[in-house]
Amino acid sequence: MKVALVTGAARGIGAATAAKLAEQGWAVLAVDAAEDNPVLPYPMGTAEELSTVVDMIREDGGTAEEFRADVRDRAQLAAAVAEAEQRWGGLDAAIAAAGVIAGGVPLWEMPPEQEDAVLDVNLRGVLNLAHVAIPAMLRCPKPRAGRFLAVASAAATRGLPTLAAYCAAKAGVAGLIRALGTELGDSGVTANAVSPGSTDTPILAESARLYDLPATQTFAAQQPQQRLLDPAEVAAVLAFLAGPESSAMTGAVVPVDGGLAL
Ligand SMILES: NC(=O)c1ccc[n+]([C@@H]2O[C@H](COP(=O)([O-])OP(=O)(O)OC[C@H]3O[C@@H](n4cnc5c(N)ncnc54)[C@H](O)[C@@H]3O)[C@@H](O)[C@H]2O)c1
Repeated sequence: MKVALVTGAARGIGAATAAKLAEQGWAVLAVDAAEDNPVLPYPMGTAEELSTVVDMIREDGGTAEEFRADVRDRAQLAAAVAEAEQRWGGLDAAIAAAGVIAGGVPLWEMPPEQEDAVLDVNLRGVLNLAHVAIPAMLRCPKPRAGRFLAVASAAATRGLPTLAAYCAAKAGVAGLIRALGTELGDSGVTANAVSPGSTDTPILAESARLYDLPATQTFAAQQPQQRLLDPAEVAAVLAFLAGPESSAMTGAVVPVDGGLAL
């Protein structure tokens, strides 16, 4: 059985990715801090949500375990990787989906602790996972098919007003993935990312609040497809990237955005 670790798995894109991989027969370690961030004004995923994700996978006959870890803490992620290896004998894919959003004011007015939260979770958190998960995937015997995956954003390439720190973090993730693709070379381990457009999750609800919009649905008009994306649609592309058929791809940042970046 192939083994995946997914961060941000309590809800949204991470939860959908955990469910999709489990449906495809992966054993999934569902990782989330499951704890509110005191500097951010909106709730994070909860311990109950994380348990529900795992319970639902098991009810459908899949294999999953929950693991509480904060992606800002490399040691906690190392413990998550060790748990996956001990429980299931290795690690084949690591998916960095945990993320937060803050802004709503120009960068120079942004509270420093919120700027830190955005950079520490969205960029440092992905670096932290790469540090601990890639060596685990390289420990697998050849021929390898390890997959390091990250969730960037359309914000990686678009300049979104009052979301400068978020844009910087996501552009950083895209740069990281391109560089990892070259560093991993012919190792059999690849690094790729998706860049979602507006996807119906609590982060989008918080974005709507930051922009004083009446509802998340307002973001639909920005996307040529004229609708919000479902987290499962992003998860489907991540599951493809996690699988054997993405073997020719590395260092790619794939838009999954209803055309937003066009
Ligand atoms: N929803 C969108 O429109 C959209 C668009 C582009 C990119 N993204 C990205 O998709 C990813 C998933 O976000 P989502 O939309 O599912 O939002 P979400 O808020 O529903 O999920 C984010 C999850 O990350 C967890 N998390 C937050 N900080 C954490 C930490 N320090 N350690 C561990 N877990 C932590 C939260 O508890 C939550 O369960 C994020 O990286 C986000 O930036 C989302």
